[in-house]
Amino acid sequence: MAELASHEPPDAYAVGAFASEELVSVGFVAPDGQPGSWRVRGMATAPHARGRGAGTFVLGALVAYATEHQARRIWANVRTPARSLYERAGFRVTSEQFELPEIGPHVVMELSVLPPASKPDRAPSRP
Ligand SMILES: CC(C)(COP(=O)(O)OP(=O)(O)OC[C@H]1O[C@@H](n2cnc3c(N)ncnc32)[C@H](O)[C@@H]1OP(=O)(O)O)[C@@H](O)C(=O)NCCC(=O)NCCS
Repeated sequence: MAELASHEPPDAYAVGAFASEELVSVGFVAPDGQPGSWRVRGMATAPHARGRGAGTFVLGALVAYATEHQARRIWANVRTPARSLYERAGFRVTSEQFELPEIGPHVVMELSVLPPASKPDRAPSRP
């Protein structure tokens, strides 16, 4: 897991999920590209802990953090076996499938974040 973190940008926000005090799942999110564009990277769950919701928890926390920091678009290069994990979090495929050398088939997936509803400065006047 520390090895994964060493590849992330210094301003990346990291989330970890623990089971019985053991770190079993990690993920990172950081601004990347245009203003308001954030990228999820490095999602990984230890093999013995997969399929029990840790990755879903980590991805949800990453999306929440980026959203709280004015993300308007959150994207990731997603390994095709992990596609449904991202779809359940609201991401949609926005690219053709492509091959990353030594890692395998990927797609770009994106989540559009709606701006928060603007609040009126004061209550509307009654007629
Ligand atoms: C993808 C990964 C992070 C998911 O973590 P997780 O803790 O198993 O996730 P959850 O239990 O919340 O959800 C399981 C989902 O992960 C996906 N998944 C991918 N590979 C999986 C595996 N070997 N075992 C279980 N689920 C896997 C499935 O799509 C599953 O979705 P589904 O419930 O719709 O079928 C984890 O399987 C992993 O580390 N895989 C290897 C590295 C990798 O592919 N990282 C993603 C790069 S985009």
